[in-house]
Amino acid sequence: MSQKPKVIVSVPLPPDLRERLAAACDLVDVPMGQSPADAVPADVRAQVSGMVCTMKTRIDQALLDALPALKVSSNFAVGFDNVDVAAATSRGVLICNTPGVLDGAVADVTIGLMLCLARNLVAGDAFVRSGAWAQGPFPLTRDIRGKTLGLLGMGRIGRVVARTARAFDMPVIYHNRREDPEAGGLATFVERDELFKSADVLSIHIPLSAQTRHSVGKRELSLMKPTAYLINTARGPVVDEAALVDALRAGTIAGAGLDVMEQEPLPATHPLCGLPNVVLQAHVGSATHETRRAMIDLAVANLLDALGGRQPAAMVNP
Ligand code: DGY
Repeated sequence: MSQKPKVIVSVPLPPDLRERLAAACDLVDVPMGQSPADAVPADVRAQVSGMVCTMKTRIDQALLDALPALKVSSNFAVGFDNVDVAAATSRGVLICNTPGVLDGAVADVTIGLMLCLARNLVAGDAFVRSGAWAQGPFPLTRDIRGKTLGLLGMGRIGRVVARTARAFDMPVIYHNRREDPEAGGLATFVERDELFKSADVLSIHIPLSAQTRHSVGKRELSLMKPTAYLINTARGPVVDEAALVDALRAGTIAGAGLDVMEQEPLPATHPLCGLPNVVLQAHVGSATHETRRAMIDLAVANLLDALGGRQPAAMVNP
């Protein structure tokens, strides 16, 4: 009988990494997003001590019951709102994630959305392709230089966005649960309402939790300038999307750039898809070859470290 630990793999692995993992563990493949509770027979589940998966795998009481020998689950993501961390912790299950390696990629999409909104770049592309240019020039857009960027959340990604925005001569303000000593010189702390009132571009960089769900809603949107843009590259449900659609229709704010939505994939029939003042992306913040490789390297290293009794580089249990 194999002495190797049994590990569920519910994420696409590059061949070299799969080989490395297979040398140390018995791999049990589960299609991405399918619950191992449904996909793996009970006698195999009973022996599983590790798992590497995406945000699509819900790690809740029911799954923890179905994997009684689980020691570690390694998320191929920095976010971990798919995990009941308290339930995992009370059973001694380590939960790992991939912070740090995707900050630049997510910040780049944030800045890209900001430029698309202010300079109307997506509509500009359609304007040229359709031949409309022959009828006259493209309508004037707005500068971002000198405009105030407001960051809701000043963690690793927020800091990279702040640094990048300085290159656009944008004053940066932020609100965080507490003032960030590392933000000094980069951004100015303001109260939460002040952030919404003063920002010309308001970008969200907080995790999704019971406390942050719909924390950007009708009240916050009504504080914003009618010329301001909202950007969300964090998690869709942080924003009350129905309130956002109302604000975009009413012109309470000028536009929104969204890489994340409450429902993903976003159906083409969703009201957001019919609004001209919205730029949408398919949750691609970290989706570059280089960044995804760094993320999967870290996720697998976390898993192997935890199984080997070493401290993983990134774990989220308190
Ligand atoms: C992350 O790493 O959390 C990205 O949003 C991918 O889900």
